[in-house]
Amino acid sequence: MRLIKFTFILCVAILVTSSPLVSAQDIEKLSGMRFVQLVRGGLMYDNWPADLGVSVEGTHPAYPDIGQQKGPDTWRCKECHGWDYKGKAGAYSKGRHFTGIRGIRNYANHDPKSVVKILMNDTHNLKDKLTDNDFDALAMFVSYGQIDVDIYIDRKTKKSIGDASNGGRIYLSTCIKCHGADGKEMNMGDDSSPVYVGTAANDNPWETLHIIRWGHANTPMISLVFLGLKEQLDVLAFCQALPR
Ligand code: HEC
Ligand code: HEC
Repeated sequence: MRLIKFTFILCVAILVTSSPLVSAQDIEKLSGMRFVQLVRGGLMYDNWPADLGVSVEGTHPAYPDIGQQKGPDTWRCKECHGWDYKGKAGAYSKGRHFTGIRGIRNYANHDPKSVVKILMNDTHNLKDKLTDNDFDALAMFVSYGQIDVDIYIDRKTKKSIGDASNGGRIYLSTCIKCHGADGKEMNMGDDSSPVYVGTAANDNPWETLHIIRWGHANTPMISLVFLGLKEQLDVLAFCQALPR
């Protein structure tokens, strides 16, 4: 028992002291608390107020005038930094979600402590809204959860490099339960412009990959981060083959 405990502490110590700790591809090697934090961080990046069940008032003070969004959504990390983590260099380089703010890629594989410092600055305005644990979770995601999506999703065609038939094995045994075999069980848009799994995965593959990996904030949707990245990309490829 003591040996197990010692080994666990040693592993955590190695994780904490070695830098870069892990590449995004082998996050599954993270164990215990740090893994829990990492997964929470992924959900919080999507929508931390929803994940924490808190409400935020008005538009984020750092949301630029040039942007077209307003209200609570402007507090979501993804709104300023993008689903592809590339901000103004990625999908949000133009269009309704443009802000001119850079992404979070510079901080991949950086010490989470340096990320916490950024999140606690005046720009982010989160000091009185999040706990130390929340900051650590977000920092874990920024440091070790994010990936360079352009390696896996073609920027022009938006297609995943994954293998749809292998993805089907996973989708048809998990996702099917809520979304149906054709992805159309739930309409996630509205009557005039319905959004099904096939619609979402083709229109915004970066968002779909993010939620395949981390789950969907404040809904029962599960995370597939226990699988390898290859399998997550396979699921995305399968979703892209579903009817819109
Ligand atoms: C309202 C807009 C906004 C929101 C929401 C926001 N940020 Fe930022 N963030 C910024 C701005 C502005 C900067 C400074 C970068 C710049 O000048 O382009 C920044 C910088 C960063 C950086 C450093 C990037 C670099 O290369 O210097 C990280 C990491 C970061 N934010 C993470 C987050 C996380 C995690 C969240 C969610 C809790 C978040 N941000 C929410 C506006 C925002
Ligand atoms: C336990 C139920 C459940 C499971 C299992 C589930 N989902 Fe979901 N999913 C949801 C719910 C609920 C939503 C949010 C619906 C909404 O926003 O109206 C959602 C949203 C989505 C979206 C749309 C995101 C957006 O806002 O555009 C996609 C794409 C998606 N899921 C894909 C998947 C895939 C792929 C799997 C399997 C890895 C999966 N889901 C498993 C319940 C589930």
